[in-house]
Amino acid sequence: MLQEKYYPNKEFAKQARIKNMCEYNELMEWAKEDYEGFWDHWAREKIDWIEPYEKVLDESDAPFYKWFVGGKLNVTQQCIDRHIEVRKNKAAIIFEGDRGDRQIITYLRLYREVNRMANLLRNEFGVKKGDRVVLYMPMIPEAAYAMLACARIGAIHSVVFGGFSAEALRDRIQDAEAKVIITADGAYRKGAPYMLKPVVDQALEEGCPSVEKVLVVQRNNEDIIWIGGRDYSYNEMIESQPDTCEPEVMDSEDPLFLLYTSGSTGKPKGVQHSQAGYILWAQMTMEWVFDVKENDTYWCTADIGWITGHTYIVYGPLAAGATTVMFEGVPTYPDAGRAWKMVEELRINQFYTAPTAIRVLHKLGEHEPEKYDLSSLKVLGTVGEPIDPPAWKWYYEVVGGGKCAIVDTWWQTETGGHMISPLPGATPVKPACATFPLPGIMAEVLERDGTPVAPGEQGLLCITRPWPSMIRTIWGDPERFKKSYFGDVVKEGQPVYFSGDGAVVDEEGYITITGRVDDVINVSGHRMGTAEIESAIKKHPHVAEVAVVGRPDPIKGESIFAYIVLKDDIPDNLGEEVELTKEINEVIAREIGNIAKADAIVVVPGLPKTRSGKVMRRILRAIAKGEEIKQDISTLEDPSIVAKIQEAVRCAGC
Ligand code: WTA
Repeated sequence: MLQEKYYPNKEFAKQARIKNMCEYNELMEWAKEDYEGFWDHWAREKIDWIEPYEKVLDESDAPFYKWFVGGKLNVTQQCIDRHIEVRKNKAAIIFEGDRGDRQIITYLRLYREVNRMANLLRNEFGVKKGDRVVLYMPMIPEAAYAMLACARIGAIHSVVFGGFSAEALRDRIQDAEAKVIITADGAYRKGAPYMLKPVVDQALEEGCPSVEKVLVVQRNNEDIIWIGGRDYSYNEMIESQPDTCEPEVMDSEDPLFLLYTSGSTGKPKGVQHSQAGYILWAQMTMEWVFDVKENDTYWCTADIGWITGHTYIVYGPLAAGATTVMFEGVPTYPDAGRAWKMVEELRINQFYTAPTAIRVLHKLGEHEPEKYDLSSLKVLGTVGEPIDPPAWKWYYEVVGGGKCAIVDTWWQTETGGHMISPLPGATPVKPACATFPLPGIMAEVLERDGTPVAPGEQGLLCITRPWPSMIRTIWGDPERFKKSYFGDVVKEGQPVYFSGDGAVVDEEGYITITGRVDDVINVSGHRMGTAEIESAIKKHPHVAEVAVVGRPDPIKGESIFAYIVLKDDIPDNLGEEVELTKEINEVIAREIGNIAKADAIVVVPGLPKTRSGKVMRRILRAIAKGEEIKQDISTLEDPSIVAKIQEAVRCAGC
């Protein structure tokens, strides 16, 4: 049976940039027939080049693809300077604090703030092109200024999500060999101050010799320790900075930023993005997918610590000359109507959030949106994890009043911007389905040998041609870059980009993402590697072995389930287990952060291993779900272990 379809709102479609599927198909055909010509057209039309490029795409050193080779630009000119002439008094950023305080930052003010911060970094701290600057920031305008200030002077920023622990922050500072850290004393969440600077202090306690200076934005004015010669107050220093700053002339392929993300093995990877290709696609997807218009107000609820915050709070909206809302708080405080109240008061036109947030808001207040005037909404977006049909329908019917397009956008830290998504004025959508690749994106669902899967069968989601905003490398580890993304699927003799996700294509070509097929867990849209969590848990002195798997969760999408084998000399009894669970979660919080805490920790007598010692995670995932074990377990070193693990899970009540 074919799934029901929802067609774009006709009034909206009339004014949309891509108005129907014919237009979509034309663009796609163009890209297929003349791939470089397609991208050449958009790069010329969209980017303010300081010097034009000589070559659109250089594939000679694949998979280290180069785009717009030889071109010169500065991303901040694309995001700020060129708007000054035509919209200097337009709101670039509308900031809403946790406690309801608001700031309107016009393009002219943004220009001045960014330049002042750029001057501070360049002239006072000696930050030069290519230096790394780590940002450990709350959701305040200064976070956006800091990112753009780095881009202005050619420094490479690496934003570390504020929920990461000191250990995790230290790892990222060390890997990037950062020269400067920008942080805040703290900020506000749910009406109360919380702190960030003490975490930076702790991270810098040992092993970060590269760090020379720490710049501290005073947001909540709580007491913090100041270390002389290292820590400086942004609020004091910024006053005297000139508000013009010569932009660094950057090459298309110079790195713009690093963003650490989890893979299936080893430590987090510093995903490296470039200048021109990234900003081009950030802007184009803002225009195509959200169809943001001059007078619109756009709100993405992500945190700048994740790629969504980079591309769709800061770079994409500003490159497009839009008004982007930045929110310090959480959408459930002071009550479940906070987000809807903001939509009403700010007359938000595009709202972009994660399925977890939709499920939480749905659960807390099914009819809450009806109390507010949400008639300004035109496009509703989701990102980060598969959305389930009930959440999709509530979003469509209750939040969107049945008249808004829902764009279920599939993409990744590595892709820089949207890859698969409905176009709001064109695509007939099926609930909970990402639909079709965007024009210019060659996404396909393949077998390992590069053959397309049959309709309805699950396959590997690949992108078979390089695209401008793609990851360029893993910072300091080009071999890992090749192995992680270009090692699994080969099409016509050529390794192609494999995303790590599984997907299904139906008879009509609609692509539905089924989730990760590697050992990455997606909790509330936060991407985490099982290997990372396991190595954190192993730091607990009682733990001999550990295996972590994801288990479906009605709100969070997935939750973390850990199987623990204790060292021989540790007695296994229930009283201690409660204590142990607490301790293990404390270790995780210390090593990674609260976001990686396990929901279930079960002590088991052993792990299901093959004779060669490989842990059979599939069995552990099935047990966590409470499923029957269908696969052959006779090849296990000890087949009886499966029943013992099932028994332990039952006893633990997990
Ligand atoms: C998942 C977030 C289903 C997917 C932008 C991907 C999705 C991972 C969707 C990337 C979607 C993202 N439907 N799953 N619309 N969007 N994902 O790097 O598993 O934090 O590989 O980037 O999120 O997570 P990341």
